[in-house]
Amino acid sequence: MRTKSMTVKNGELYIGDFSLSELSARYRTPLYVYDEEGIIEKINIFKEYFRSDKFATEIVYASKAFLAPYLCKILAGRDISIDAVSVGDLHLIEKSGFPNNRILLHGNNKSNGELEKAVEMGVEYVVVDSYTELARLKDLSEKKEKHINTLFRINPGIYADTHAYIETSLLSSKFGESIHDEEIIDKVVDIYRRAKYLRLDGFHCHIGSQINNPKSFIAAAQTMLNFTKRFAQKYGMEVDVLNLGGGFAIKYLENDAEVDLRWVLTEIIKTVESRVEKYGLKLKKLMIEPGRALVGDSGFTLYRVGLLKKTFGGKKYIFIDGGMSDNIRPALYQAKFTVEVANRVAEPDDDSDPYPSFNFYDVVGKCCESADIIAEAVNIDEVRIGDIIVVYATGAYCYSMSMNYNGLQRGAVIFVKGDKITEAIRRQSLDDLVATCDFGVTE
Ligand code: LLP
Repeated sequence: MRTKSMTVKNGELYIGDFSLSELSARYRTPLYVYDEEGIIEKINIFKEYFRSDKFATEIVYASKAFLAPYLCKILAGRDISIDAVSVGDLHLIEKSGFPNNRILLHGNNKSNGELEKAVEMGVEYVVVDSYTELARLKDLSEKKEKHINTLFRINPGIYADTHAYIETSLLSSKFGESIHDEEIIDKVVDIYRRAKYLRLDGFHCHIGSQINNPKSFIAAAQTMLNFTKRFAQKYGMEVDVLNLGGGFAIKYLENDAEVDLRWVLTEIIKTVESRVEKYGLKLKKLMIEPGRALVGDSGFTLYRVGLLKKTFGGKKYIFIDGGMSDNIRPALYQAKFTVEVANRVAEPDDDSDPYPSFNFYDVVGKCCESADIIAEAVNIDEVRIGDIIVVYATGAYCYSMSMNYNGLQRGAVIFVKGDKITEAIRRQSLDDLVATCDFGVTE
């Protein structure tokens, strides 16, 4: 589960020219590390396999997975668009110098302020989540006399085999308007027809995240194209764009099923090409929004071991200097991670013991919660206080979901490429932690 640029030298893990212990000492732990070449390789796979001669394609990075100005720069230079889910995201992306006309605004409860900011920035599309939001956007566009390009989010009702918390296309899901709800779709059409400044460029769907089964993506594409055809027939309105969202899974454990991204992307393109032709649709652009698959397995987290403990009941713990505050995924989704001791790596050995002894530990954090577990039952030969623990595939939804619970500081984020380190986000200081508190209040 090591990243593209990782090597082992003298029993120590390296990324590029740097040992993980050196990085840990220099930037302190917890430390999020990105393998820049790994991310670039992923971008190139998406660009190579998500393309068609029949229509344009656009790859939108779902920035909720991880957002930093340095990453925006990497993406901007490679023709990848980006999405935002709030005015906070828009603010950071704008400050990074990312081109406004390659930003999408998402969100299932956008405030008027957020819509206004997007309109002022002239983003590429506002992805409208509901007919009530559409009505508000219509009023706003008329007040500002500004044209707004929109995609309308449809819930296609496709089952995605993933954790219930990251499924988004059930009949009960809160996102978008249901493909089955003709009454609402009538209302949506009515608003678009009356709107002087709103353009319905196309439809959007996103069926969930960490989806392993490619059939779900194919089913979503087919369902959305059927819908587009029926929509054109019923309302006489043709759309230019289809955005199929993200959700491509990555491997977290050695035994996880391999997701062949190249194959999945090729199949999606083939499916859309053949349906577009069969239905005589005038689709001009197909979009996708990968988050995790672009950055997830190129990132890892480093921690220092502070304590080892064996309970009276026999459970052995490795205590690290972070935890659910920097990686909430095990507690929230029962997510599993691969863990290694970075400064004592066994070199592969031809006559290694075919019956290795098992030495299971739970790797747990500093937080006052029993759910503060990073990995359970990890087989580790030898571990000592002061060792560096590496947790793999933490590049998506770890830093972006981190928090200051128990007064823990968010760690730094660095990007490594060969002999170059970029500190994309510095470690929070103690002053950062209290920056929003008013100490002058009196009783
Ligand atoms: N597009 C939309 C509209 C989304 O809501 C999402 C993710 C994506 C694209 C990107 O999905 P991805 O390619 O990263 O799977 N915190 C959870 C994942 C939440 C996903 C939210 N939406 C986790 O840690 O698994």
